[in-house]
Amino acid sequence: MRKKLYDYGMIGLGTMGRNLVYNICDHGYTVAGFDKDLSKVETLEQDKGNYDLCGTHSIKEFTDVLKKPRVILLLVPAGSIVDSVINKLKPGMSKDDLIIDCGNSHYTDTNLRIKKLEKEKIHFMGVGISGGEFGARNGPSIMPGGSKKAYARVAPLFQAISAKANGEPCIAYLGPGSAGHYVKMVHNGIEYAFMQLIAESYQLLKQAAGMSNDELHDIFLKWNNGSLKSYLVSITADIFKQKDNLTENCLIDMILDSAHQKGTGAWTTEDAMALQVPVPVIDVAVSMRNISILKEERMVAQKQLHGPAIQIVIDKQELVDSLENALYFSIITVFSQGMALLHNASDAYHYDLNLEDIARIWREGCIIRASVLDDIMAAVTEQPILSNLMLSGVFKEKLAGLQENARKVIQTSINAGIPLPAFNASLSYYDSYRSGWLPDNLLQAQRDYFGAHTYERTDRKGTFHTDWHQKQH
Ligand code: 6PG
Repeated sequence: MRKKLYDYGMIGLGTMGRNLVYNICDHGYTVAGFDKDLSKVETLEQDKGNYDLCGTHSIKEFTDVLKKPRVILLLVPAGSIVDSVINKLKPGMSKDDLIIDCGNSHYTDTNLRIKKLEKEKIHFMGVGISGGEFGARNGPSIMPGGSKKAYARVAPLFQAISAKANGEPCIAYLGPGSAGHYVKMVHNGIEYAFMQLIAESYQLLKQAAGMSNDELHDIFLKWNNGSLKSYLVSITADIFKQKDNLTENCLIDMILDSAHQKGTGAWTTEDAMALQVPVPVIDVAVSMRNISILKEERMVAQKQLHGPAIQIVIDKQELVDSLENALYFSIITVFSQGMALLHNASDAYHYDLNLEDIARIWREGCIIRASVLDDIMAAVTEQPILSNLMLSGVFKEKLAGLQENARKVIQTSINAGIPLPAFNASLSYYDSYRSGWLPDNLLQAQRDYFGAHTYERTDRKGTFHTDWHQKQH
């Protein structure tokens, strides 16, 4: 009897991998799965119901049951594990097989893997997948990069399993090489900043307005019905309602105020620095996670470093309304920074990214999905080569109307000694970007003074040096 062969292979049967397998099966495809933790293979087998899938118990069995040329998806932790899986797969692979790394790999690793495998006539794609467990099961946003030929082989699969925004699949071919993983990295950078802004809003409402968790729930719920409509605002509303099952308290009050990270936010910041593209809100979001883990130091410092006593604001409704607008203002600046980074990276790394496609596929399925993306799409459709979203007709007016609220909220926080670094970074980004003059003439002068680094002039071309030590009469 001929052995049954499966359409796709999945390596990594953790939460994301397992749910993606079910999603793929929902669309009429057959899948073989493997995980080095064989208990996960057993779980897949036990829970398979009517799905046409199989769990395999060795890499050899796995590669043997796949249709050729094989298409193998990886959902394993980023880093050396990806290389180790590839090396284990290689003996069982043949010409034209395709490996798709669906994890959060660093884009430079993806470039290296594509090159290495090319020599062995194996295709490799880096594909960003966003949406967590729910997205994997019901439709994530999919950010594929790699060769167009390889993409053509999996486009029908990805289109079928992706989230849909107004019926359109949240997937588009993004570009060659590591384009998909780069776009996913920037997605995560935006995610960090968005989360930090929400966390700061929580701190201000809790400490400066004395809001209870029930009130916070109501506020975020209401915000989610307006211009702030987004996945992150909606889950924040839910979080404030969750009771702890170990105590009588709300769960949020029992969770330690130290946030960890897997690194994609920091990678965004690092790459933006390397490309000299300012993304200050993302930078701050990463730094604040780093401050958050200094819990013990902060507890010591709380007793030693003094600031103003927190005064409860009188007009709570006014604060809530200003904060809603300030948050919207800041979120626009965050997306502007992310899009500006993508715009520059596209040139630097020859991705030829289409920002309209990116905004389109972020509208559903992913963690940063938000109604503001409809406006972003409109803005980039109207002016595809805009250097910064803030200059688009759509956002210029909005920002002008909202900025007063950001100032008000920041003033409240400064008087109360409550840190709002991401809000501050958003407003400073806006204010510096709209400053025709910045004080960097002084920086040029200082560099020339102490290091003879030369400077440029406002009235003629060229580089100049002054002997600053010469006595002035
Ligand atoms: C997504 C998320 C996901 C990411 C987590 C955790 O798009 O589904 O971005 O890919 O891994 O959000 O990230 P951190 O551990 O770095 O916070």
